[in-house]
Amino acid sequence: MTGPVPVVLDVDTGVDDACALLLAGLHPDVDLRAVTCVGGNVSVDEVVANTLTVLQVAGRGDVAVARGAPRPLLEPVSHARHVHGGDGLGDLGWPSPDARPDPRHAVELLADLLNEAASAGPAALITLVTLAPLTNIALLLRTYPQAAAGLAEIIFMGGAANVGNATASAEFNVWHDPEAAAIVLQSAAELDIPVVMYGLDVFYDVLVTREQAVELIAVGGHGPAELAGRLIDFQCDRFGQPQATIGDAGAVCAVIDRTGLSTTRLPVRVELAGTYSRGRTIVDRRDWAGDIAHDPHGMAPTAVEVALSVDADRYAQLWLRTVKAGRR
Ligand code: RIB
Ligand code: CA
Repeated sequence: MTGPVPVVLDVDTGVDDACALLLAGLHPDVDLRAVTCVGGNVSVDEVVANTLTVLQVAGRGDVAVARGAPRPLLEPVSHARHVHGGDGLGDLGWPSPDARPDPRHAVELLADLLNEAASAGPAALITLVTLAPLTNIALLLRTYPQAAAGLAEIIFMGGAANVGNATASAEFNVWHDPEAAAIVLQSAAELDIPVVMYGLDVFYDVLVTREQAVELIAVGGHGPAELAGRLIDFQCDRFGQPQATIGDAGAVCAVIDRTGLSTTRLPVRVELAGTYSRGRTIVDRRDWAGDIAHDPHGMAPTAVEVALSVDADRYAQLWLRTVKAGRR
């Protein structure tokens, strides 16, 4: 029986990042080692504050939180307050956190943890779950490539084989910093890092109803269950729907219960130049026994475990059970 999985989350806390933080902070099979923050849904300083708030609610003020890149490598920031509320956390107005962030930059904290893990043996290798634009991770892998030896795998919430959200062809985390995503995929091939892509093809499938949210809110006490319920309720209101996705939290579900996710190993690259497709993850589903005479680019160098279907109810129930149970 292996113990809890060593995990680091990279977030742009947002409402669904908060759902993921609650799950990772509360579930006994996750050893949440640290959380690194990047600009995305809201500014990086708001991401740090939101992350500290959520971890405090979950009773995980012990988890190191570090501030990372405020903006993409080339693109300007483009926040998503229309999705996550003005403050990025559903405008709930919950108490500000007591904890302070780690003094290290996110890249330095990641490098320290990964270098320690690399020297501590296979059971210590870290699963890096990225739930945001990949700016911090690109900077890490370009600055400290040897830190990759401390990684068990990267599970990244981003991209899609078939759909977009930020644009018709691109998913927000990759669209926000396409160069960073391209660097991470290139580094994964060069540094032999296993990568799982938890993209939009599964992201929207794992749903919690408003009724379930009301039950969570009724627990009260400004605890994790109430916060979880209010996050879902906010999304139901914002989008006028009777249910809402747990979003990023699904990628943490994949750490806890991989059998709930169906993946296929496929070549993936990022479009950097397209007028209408910049930031698209190009998932190559061709049968490579086929015609390669017309394709000057050939197969993308990075093979990724692309999630194409998910046991949505299984993951929704996992999330609900965990946020209801609180810290065990
Ligand atoms: O496209 C969805 C992703 O973009 C999620 O991670 C959400 O939090 C935003 O970061
Ligand atoms: Ca996110």
